[in-house]
Amino acid sequence: MSDVKSLIYRDGELKLLDQRKLPIITEFISCRTYQEVGECIREMVVRGAPAIGATAAYGMAIGALTSETQEVSSLREELEEAAEYLRGTRPTAVNLFWAIERMLKVAEKNSQLSVDELKNKLLEEAHQIADDDIEINRRIGSYGEKLIAVGDTVLTHCNAGALATVDYGTALGVIRAAQEAGKEIKVFADETRPYLQGARLTAWEMVQEQIPVTLITDNMAGHAMKIGRIQKIVVGADRIAANGDTANKIGTYSLSVLAKEHGIPFYIAAPISTFDFTIKTGEEIPIEERSSREVTHVFDVQIAPEGVDVFNPAFDVTPHENITAIITEYGVIENPDAEKIAALRSQIEKEV
Ligand code: MRU
Repeated sequence: MSDVKSLIYRDGELKLLDQRKLPIITEFISCRTYQEVGECIREMVVRGAPAIGATAAYGMAIGALTSETQEVSSLREELEEAAEYLRGTRPTAVNLFWAIERMLKVAEKNSQLSVDELKNKLLEEAHQIADDDIEINRRIGSYGEKLIAVGDTVLTHCNAGALATVDYGTALGVIRAAQEAGKEIKVFADETRPYLQGARLTAWEMVQEQIPVTLITDNMAGHAMKIGRIQKIVVGADRIAANGDTANKIGTYSLSVLAKEHGIPFYIAAPISTFDFTIKTGEEIPIEERSSREVTHVFDVQIAPEGVDVFNPAFDVTPHENITAIITEYGVIENPDAEKIAALRSQIEKEV
């Protein structure tokens, strides 16, 4: 378990670790309304697909708890409004939409309860989503570490760690589990321009855990692969289409192409809640475009000419053909494709 939590809920208040300020300042932002929760997702106080999902679930619970209505029907209407607001915060990570739908289903299934009972049920569900996330990441870690050999150097991109989840992480969960299994691994962390999640968050998590980490700028990854410094690549995901095409932080696709060129295994670590079975291929995944300022400035210092044209997609899509395997809490899907993913899905549905 990591020392610092991305989110803490207590008595109607959701405290979110302000990830924009890490690793320099450790500060929490307090949210007491669903709108405040939504703003924190939009402004990336909290980020990372599973953390966004759990935060949105608490946003829905807080929306219910702060409602003054005495009628279940109007509570459900207010929940729809909260859902609409939260859905509008970030478009790519499907865990956001998944968690909101899960909360709305609880409201639908329990509409016979009193207002207070329903509020409690919704809070219980948010806690369940958060608790499950930690357990799921542990399972991903234990499947994933088996793919890592003693002494490997593992490259990761962005931050798919404890900060991007409720705890432990997906890609960094695999790395943590390999370390716990005594594999004496090393990590290379891409800095991940423009938002620097690798430099600010992944490097910080690894230093905290005393896992040997080397920070590189994104354009050094190809060279590091070419000279044999990287044995495996493990990254997270924001949305996985039914055929295995995977959206993740911008720069992931380029890494997958380089990995293919150099014969390096390229793994995605993600929970089943990151799969979007409603879309056939990655072409349908909405890609968030963020402010040009993220590219023209670094920490408020302007580094580009005034008025320059900027393109700032926050994510890209890696085609499934470039992915060696997807590591989930239900096992590893090697050479993922629509057929194998459908088979795992039906196996899960039978188990549940
Ligand atoms: O823009 P971000 O920081 O929310 O993007 C995060 C990523 O791309 C992560 O790799 C992904 O969400 C997986 S987190 C376990």
